[in-house]
Amino acid sequence: MRAVVHDKYGPPTVLRLEDVERPVPKDNQVLVKVHATTVNRSDCGWRTGKPFFARFFTGVRRPKHRILGGEFAGEIAAVGNSITEFKVGDRVFGDCGFGTHAEFVCARQEGLLAHQPAGMTFAEAAAVCDGAIIANSCLTSVELRGGSRLVVYGASGSIGSAAVQLARLSGAEITAVCNTKNLELVKSLGADHVIDYTQEDFTKNGEQYDVIFDAVGKHSFRRCRRSLKSGGTYIETDLGFMWHAPLLALLTRLTSLIGGKRVRFPLPKYTKETVILLKELIETGKYRAVIDRSYSLDQIVEATTYVETGQKTGNVVITVIETAPNAVTDEGKNA
Ligand SMILES: NC(=O)c1ccc[n+]([C@@H]2O[C@H](COP(=O)([O-])OP(=O)(O)OC[C@H]3O[C@@H](n4cnc5c(N)ncnc54)[C@H](OP(=O)(O)O)[C@@H]3O)[C@@H](O)[C@H]2O)c1
Repeated sequence: MRAVVHDKYGPPTVLRLEDVERPVPKDNQVLVKVHATTVNRSDCGWRTGKPFFARFFTGVRRPKHRILGGEFAGEIAAVGNSITEFKVGDRVFGDCGFGTHAEFVCARQEGLLAHQPAGMTFAEAAAVCDGAIIANSCLTSVELRGGSRLVVYGASGSIGSAAVQLARLSGAEITAVCNTKNLELVKSLGADHVIDYTQEDFTKNGEQYDVIFDAVGKHSFRRCRRSLKSGGTYIETDLGFMWHAPLLALLTRLTSLIGGKRVRFPLPKYTKETVILLKELIETGKYRAVIDRSYSLDQIVEATTYVETGQKTGNVVITVIETAPNAVTDEGKNA
């Protein structure tokens, strides 16, 4: 099968297309024929091997996962012997961490895998999970209720666009901060107020909020502190440089000990339950993944270079199969 591989850490140009062996599903796995995947900021982080401590998960000297890509949507081409929930031909979506920048990938039944909501394209379904799972982990780390005042800073990114829609469900009053060109988009996602950061600094408008969620790693607790109500929480998503992580951990600990205004850096909870929740939200019209552009698999370097500008709106999709065939290869159960 065709796959995008890399054998060393580095810039987008370390990525190249190669013919590799198709993976074989284990008993508890399905083989997915990938129709669409994404390039997201996590893929870029794994590829650069920065911050360095990330290499303890991905290989210290060289990447142990040759094929990047976590999010996917596609059709089941084969199932392992103990699979009960899925069958060959089912349209599915999810996130399996690595391996989706390829024509086939194996995904665990108990992992982040669900049936694709009806009426969705593969491209739309591929972009559902990563931003929304991170946004959901952040938002569920605080108590948002009707009337809570929330700022989503960087509301046009993958995490930010998901955060606006998920926060909407709690009844919170949402102020979304983004660039001029994305004001209409974030309003359409459910923001009550929008602030154009090129025109106005929200930390200087005299307003105070219960939660400020920096969804793009461009703000700081120090600059936002005065805009938080007493007992308010600043949520950070970006590990940034290597020193940032211990600093955030310390701030999180200190601020929760001292009380008053707090900093949170919630680790994403990648759970199947969240994927099922997202599926239900999509089916009831309460959630959609925002898609900026699509590229083909052989344009992976261009796609990745674009994602690394930090200017994408929502998500960048990689279309692995241009037109969805009516039938998938029926390889049945593993012998
Ligand atoms: N916690 C985790 O596990 C985890 C995992 C993945 C990623 N991350 C981090 O989370 C952050 C967001 O990821 P993402 O994928 O959502 O990012 P993204 O989609 O790449 O965010 C891009 C968006 O941010 C906006 N933006 C850029 N500069 C801005 C600024 N100064 N003020 C406000 N908005 C700005 C851009 O819009 P305009 O420039 O048009 O305004 C663009 O729409 C990244 O820093 C990433 O490293 C964390």
